[in-house]
Amino acid sequence: MRWRFHTDLTPDDITPREVFVNRRRFIAAGGALLTFAGMPRKPFAASRSDVLKDTPTRYEDATSYTNFIEFGNGKSVASRRAGALTIKPWHVRIDGLVDNPGEFSLAELVREMPQEERLYRFRCVEGWAMVVPWRGFMLADLLKKAGVKPEAKYAAFETLLRPSEMPGQKSPLYKWPYREGLRLDEAMHPLTLMATGMYGRPLPKQNGAPIRLVVPWKYGFKSIKSVVRITLTDKQPPTTWNMLAPDEYGFYANVNPHVDHPRWSQATERLLGSGLFAGNTPTRMFNGYEKEVARLYEGMDLRKYF
Ligand code: MTE
Repeated sequence: MRWRFHTDLTPDDITPREVFVNRRRFIAAGGALLTFAGMPRKPFAASRSDVLKDTPTRYEDATSYTNFIEFGNGKSVASRRAGALTIKPWHVRIDGLVDNPGEFSLAELVREMPQEERLYRFRCVEGWAMVVPWRGFMLADLLKKAGVKPEAKYAAFETLLRPSEMPGQKSPLYKWPYREGLRLDEAMHPLTLMATGMYGRPLPKQNGAPIRLVVPWKYGFKSIKSVVRITLTDKQPPTTWNMLAPDEYGFYANVNPHVDHPRWSQATERLLGSGLFAGNTPTRMFNGYEKEVARLYEGMDLRKYF
């Protein structure tokens, strides 16, 4: 199968109305529609030739080199320890400024939400990058289902709190649970995904099973794993890394080659699995999604709101 980048799309391209309606029909008919190969959607357009040269990172690399501090520090810790995590049944609580608060069963959500496959670049704040084919649904669809009240300005996310299965949560260094947040327009952006799978398979536990956020134009720490709660609020929510080191990890955390981390440059990145001698490649503004998301930050000083 040839993966192509989900890029240079307007919201209409991503979900043309007729596709949306068709998808709903498919789902109603009991079929899980994967909108990748042979899907009823407009062809993807790529803006840069380099984009098409990127290929998915090897599954083995993307699933063995992970960050998941709930299982401890170190890239291989989660893949060794996460097996113990119970992920069935799983519920996501949606509360705060919504019309229909409640506990949503993940099994039902997966049946109900239009599923898509999307190939995204993923850039960690530490300087490594990968290319991952995710499967999931748009966060916007979930929030529409919950009915966002007009006063809501932010979405806050929380990871499961279960120290018996997540031994890293015994560490006093962090305030648990892991928390993240997005401005509402970021949360509603069509590129913002709730992923339940990758590489055509269910999400591995070390990568955030059974459901995680994926925000491809932001540093990876925003893409919170194993989500159990989404709260709509009118105040910017506290987030794990920002609380720990506000000078190093901003709330926005947009990938930006011009704004360095205080302890290292963000101008280049290292593609996972590219080999010791491959060298670094330039970091792209908004991780290559500038055309889709730059308008969200018009007029903002990105050095201040980093
Ligand atoms: N979510 C939770 N709950 N706990 C974490 O430690 N790490 C973040 C993010 N989401 C993390 C998390 C960081 S720093 C990165 S780079 C990505 O997950 C890594 O995702 P991956 O391990 O699937 O590559």
